[in-house]
Amino acid sequence: MERLIIKGGNQLHGEVDCSGAKNAGLPILASTILLDGVAKIGNLPHLQDITTMLELLNSMGSHINFDENGYIEINSSNIDLPEARYELVKTMRASILVMGPLVAKYGKAKISQPGGCDIGSRPIDFHLSGLEKMGAEIKSDSKYIYLKADKLKPIEFEFPKISVTGTENLMMAAVFTKGKTTLKNCAKEPEVVELANFLNKCGASIHGAGESTIEITGVDSLGSVEWDVLFDRIEAGTYLVAGAITNGHITVKKIEPKTIQVLTNKLIEMGVHVSYGENWVEADATSSEITCVDIGTEPFPGFPTDMQAQFMALNTIATGSCTIEETVFENRFQHVSQLRKMGADIVLSKNKAFVKGVPNLVGSEVKASDLRASASLVLAGLVGKNRTQIDNIYHIDRGYECIEEKLNKLGADIIREPVVY
Ligand code: UD1
Repeated sequence: MERLIIKGGNQLHGEVDCSGAKNAGLPILASTILLDGVAKIGNLPHLQDITTMLELLNSMGSHINFDENGYIEINSSNIDLPEARYELVKTMRASILVMGPLVAKYGKAKISQPGGCDIGSRPIDFHLSGLEKMGAEIKSDSKYIYLKADKLKPIEFEFPKISVTGTENLMMAAVFTKGKTTLKNCAKEPEVVELANFLNKCGASIHGAGESTIEITGVDSLGSVEWDVLFDRIEAGTYLVAGAITNGHITVKKIEPKTIQVLTNKLIEMGVHVSYGENWVEADATSSEITCVDIGTEPFPGFPTDMQAQFMALNTIATGSCTIEETVFENRFQHVSQLRKMGADIVLSKNKAFVKGVPNLVGSEVKASDLRASASLVLAGLVGKNRTQIDNIYHIDRGYECIEEKLNKLGADIIREPVVY
């Protein structure tokens, strides 16, 4: 176990490169199950979740090689055990992304029940009802879900609520289904578009990704591909908030500004000076008085739930007050009690947090509870007076590559130390 120790108060300045997006890398890795050829994939972030997905593919029989240029070569053409084991699914819910590809390619899958998690119950009923409608026979017991389908049939399916991995799973499942599958009320996230582009480059026929309706026409097989994974818009947003919260001046490079426009618009509303070019965004808060803004999370292109906790941290030290409404997950306010420990003034009522800005946060001993909640504690620690200690940082390592190295290069004072009992 490790913890982060942050000495707060330093203004952050400089440039930081964005890493590849975890939420784009995970579905792309899962989709390699569909290929008859070899996938050569670059710009994958060095994160625990990516390692878990590679372990999962490996446990099913995929051959994985790392080349000297940082690319990973995956050959999943001979999977002999189409099974996602409990030990892997329990550490990473996104393991369920192998379900659609396994049923499409091998006609069967055994997937551990994903269960709940810290940000809510997170059911997978849409994934399952879509696959069932396509003709999969589904059984389950307390531990596993068993799927079987000799042949999937094309369907028209409307998601009852927008789901990112649900859209991805059904899109992958339909890749070989003869005829046209139409998915409605789909997620429009850039990571969904990235997966469709990746599969199309392998030979799939997917149209409409990024819009509400996606049409997939079945093809016979998918071939080899070389691909660089899209950059991480949530990581980019987190570093821009790090600049703003310290009244600093940060440029995030290797990011498509359009994908984070909803975040940069919020920063502008809060008083930060934002400029951008083709693949960079700069946030200058050196002369800003940051003011509170209301936030309501929504699926893309709305404000992402994955940035709610970080913007809450920024609002805690801003002038005025605001309401933060979480509409995507039912229990995504675990950071609130920890931010309060640091002096934040936040009142919770159901899915709304009422934040009143305070002049200063004070360093404290806090615990990370989930990935994005942990990021908000790091941000609070950057500005908190004196020393902040963050425990359970394995949550941060699931989604941020070298977070303390990147922040220290910008002027932060963060140490990672082992926890000795
Ligand atoms: C993905 C992201 C996660 C992000 C989330 C919302 C990945 C690997 N993870 O998670 O970082 O926070 O999108 O942007 O890409 N739901 C159901 N039944 C289902 C599926 C979803 O009720 O079968 C509900 C969920 O409980 C939640 C909402 O739909 O309330 C959205 O969840 P979903 O988009 O599916 O989240 P994930 O794909 O798991």
